[in-house]
Amino acid sequence: MIPSGKARLAGVLGWPVSHSLSPRLHGYWLQRYGIDGAYLPLGAPPASLEGVVRALVELGFRGFNVTLPHKEPLLALCDEVTPEAHRIGAVNTVVIDGDRLQGGNSDAFGFAENLRAGAADWRPESGPAVVIGAGGAARAVIAALQDLGVTEVRLTNRTEARAADLAAALAAPQRPPIRLVPWAEREEALAGAGVLVNTTSLGMAGQPALDLALDALPAEALVTDIVYAPLETPLLAAARARGNPVVDGLGMLLHQARPGFEAWFGRAPEVSAELRAFLLGA
Ligand code: ATR
Repeated sequence: MIPSGKARLAGVLGWPVSHSLSPRLHGYWLQRYGIDGAYLPLGAPPASLEGVVRALVELGFRGFNVTLPHKEPLLALCDEVTPEAHRIGAVNTVVIDGDRLQGGNSDAFGFAENLRAGAADWRPESGPAVVIGAGGAARAVIAALQDLGVTEVRLTNRTEARAADLAAALAAPQRPPIRLVPWAEREEALAGAGVLVNTTSLGMAGQPALDLALDALPAEALVTDIVYAPLETPLLAAARARGNPVVDGLGMLLHQARPGFEAWFGRAPEVSAELRAFLLGA
């Protein structure tokens, strides 16, 4: 429906934000459920971040998503931050309650739900997870894999010090251990793995492919990628060709959006094949 003067407002805060799929994603759900609301792209350069956030509160926004480069600065700007967002070190979903900002992070949820929906037969406890990359996305992916109950996380990154920092931040006695694998040994680390995740930008349109021979990977291991443009990255194509189950990265984006939409607009939205097709036609 076309928004009225009473429309509930939300959006995605980032810089730049013009590439974001979130306005179309939330816009699809608003239309599908006939909700009087609007979800807008909110471009805010870093120097304006605090003022823009205050303005959103003043304007009566219900909340907003947060994308690069504001996910980490939002930790300090929120009045309350969930333990999940603290653990991941970033806020991607904010609910405005009166004048209070409640920060959360739904990226680990989105990753886990995408695997649940796309690989119903996969059992996390079946073996170790190999995670390639140690940027912001890796942190949410590793947190999710730990919570899903993989036997261990084998983490490898070109810049090894970054992997060590990430492992130190996420290691906890009651959680699956994180073992650091030297970048040069990443192919050997695939032996016996139950799941392989690419969290780097390699394989994205315009970027080189991830250089990783899959020979040592068990045939039943699940392979997934956080890159979703193209939907089938060279890694996923290679995995599919040798018979591994694969899950593409678009679902993580779709599922991470669910908690925010429900909090702001009052309806739990569904991720459907029609929604995927709509976004891929964008
Ligand atoms: P974000 O925080 O958004 O995830 P990022 O911090 O730039 O983005 O992380 C991107 C990831 O892709 C990192 O793991 C990066 O490795 P480095 O830490 O060594 O930079 C990885 N990456 C990017 N280009 C790469 C390349 N050509 N070869 C190997 N890894 C690469």
